[in-house]
Amino acid sequence: MTIKIAPSILSADFANLERDVRRIADADYVHVDVMDGLFVPNITIGIPVVRALRPTTALPLDVHLMIDRPVRYVEQFCDAGADIVTCHVEADSEAHTREALAKIHARGKRAGVVLKPRTPAEAALPFLDECDIVLVMTVEPGFGGQSFMADMMPKVARLREWIDGRGLPCELEVDGGVALGTRDACVEAGANVLVAGSAVYGAEDIPARIRALRG
Ligand code: DX5
Ligand code: ZN
Repeated sequence: MTIKIAPSILSADFANLERDVRRIADADYVHVDVMDGLFVPNITIGIPVVRALRPTTALPLDVHLMIDRPVRYVEQFCDAGADIVTCHVEADSEAHTREALAKIHARGKRAGVVLKPRTPAEAALPFLDECDIVLVMTVEPGFGGQSFMADMMPKVARLREWIDGRGLPCELEVDGGVALGTRDACVEAGANVLVAGSAVYGAEDIPARIRALRG
């Protein structure tokens, strides 16, 4: 399986975002962590920053919405230049999550759902046929630089079985604590997109680190 690397700009220098996005030009996606201070206890990037980032890179912008009731904002993120928009299943009702995915698709963008560590794999099932990507959190969302939760790997493996079993083109992404020492477990469990914040931006040689993470 081809492994894609999505560096999280949460670990970039926010005063030099354009420079730091150019530094990951060898990656596959730019992972953008949006937090609202309600769904998670942190506030980060919003719609104007996504819009400002858009012309700085040719890479797809992978926008991870850690916000309450994301259906309210998905169209604005699409219009600001997001290519992939993912919504947490815990952030709203099933009907509203379905509506959010439909709104993203109506804008011609890729859509997905995200599962927090305590949310079972089954929570993604009602949406699987509508998802271009499923994101499994391997830390509690909110902050970069946390320790990888290896006990999430069975969840990743179950999702991989369902995706392949249904013959879906859905990607399977992991996010949190992914580094050189943990990427093999993710890939063995069936993930094909690896988000990495500190492991990429903390490296001396960023392109070399991206290559090493890709494997
Ligand atoms: C956490 C974010 C992650 C985070 C990953 O809420 O969703 O994308 O930036 O950072 P690292 O790779 O440092 O754990
Ligand atoms: Zn993220």
